[in-house]
Amino acid sequence: MEFHEPVLVEEVLEALSIDPHGIYVDATLGTGGHSSRILKRLGASGLLIGLDVDPLALERAGQRLSGAEARVEVVRSSYADLDLVLERLGIKRVQGVLLDLGISSYQLEASGRGFSFSRDEPLDMRMDPDRAATAAQLVNTLSERELADILKKFGEEPRAKSIARAIVKERKREPIRTTFQLVKIIESHSPPRGALGKHPATRAFQALRIATNRELENLNSFLEKIPGLIEKGGRLVILSYHSLEHRMVKRAMVEWEKECTCPKDFPHCVCDKEVLFKRVNKRAIMPADREIKRNPRARSAQLRAAERV
Ligand SMILES: C[S@@+](CC[C@H](N)C(=O)[O-])C[C@H]1O[C@@H](n2cnc3c(N)ncnc32)[C@H](O)[C@@H]1O
Repeated sequence: MEFHEPVLVEEVLEALSIDPHGIYVDATLGTGGHSSRILKRLGASGLLIGLDVDPLALERAGQRLSGAEARVEVVRSSYADLDLVLERLGIKRVQGVLLDLGISSYQLEASGRGFSFSRDEPLDMRMDPDRAATAAQLVNTLSERELADILKKFGEEPRAKSIARAIVKERKREPIRTTFQLVKIIESHSPPRGALGKHPATRAFQALRIATNRELENLNSFLEKIPGLIEKGGRLVILSYHSLEHRMVKRAMVEWEKECTCPKDFPHCVCDKEVLFKRVNKRAIMPADREIKRNPRARSAQLRAAERV
């Protein structure tokens, strides 16, 4: 696959409510699917800043986005460091930020980094190839308890304990280096595929990917910083793909919308809490059946958008 098919594109563009002269950040550039559409709405005075931690994604997106009317800055950085990126560019606040979480089809199908349980590849799973530990290092060095915690917490895997036990037993025999070695261990501890509906390795692979890339820590730190980085009236749009992310994003947006959080019986407010964002839609937007048919990876996507007030 040459490019990742962007999810909920029209809905993202509408939720960003693009000002042609504004500064927009695509915090997870991927192969530039959303960005190329955002760029079409920006005029010569507009600026698009694209971030990704994967150098190959940046290379592909960089080529795709060249020649646009608006200026484009492509930066290799984590979205958790968006504040530092903007500071380096001399920008205080922007008019819109898009965060499209999860993994791109390019990474799954063509990176050779072991993101997919249906390809026999080295068990790497780093989106940023300069990160310290690969998924194989985690699998071969963490304790049984730590592995079970990861599988349970990040994969909501009901067989976390028995899979962790089997991993530890198996790695004593031979280090686990490839995706298929891991898939075999998981399959031997799971009911047949038909009984589960999904491939039995789905949850464990999700969990390991989240742990390897510290995805929830990054999201948390992004959510803490973002209110200070968006101009009043500007928009934040987030696409999330699994229940842990959905929950974190929803919780943050509900919290931002609250005024005073003091207990009702306090005579006056002591928390000084301000409303930071108002949600654009109360309910998450999900792809229509038509989109899911065309692009099955859109299946679990949820779009949430909020406006800085
Ligand atoms: C679902 S894809 C984005 C696809 C993109 N919207 C498009 O249309 O092509 C997610 C991207 O986020 C990147 N990514 C993952 N963690 C990141 C992080 N902490 N900071 C920046 N980018 C990250 C991945 O490398 C991947 O390219």
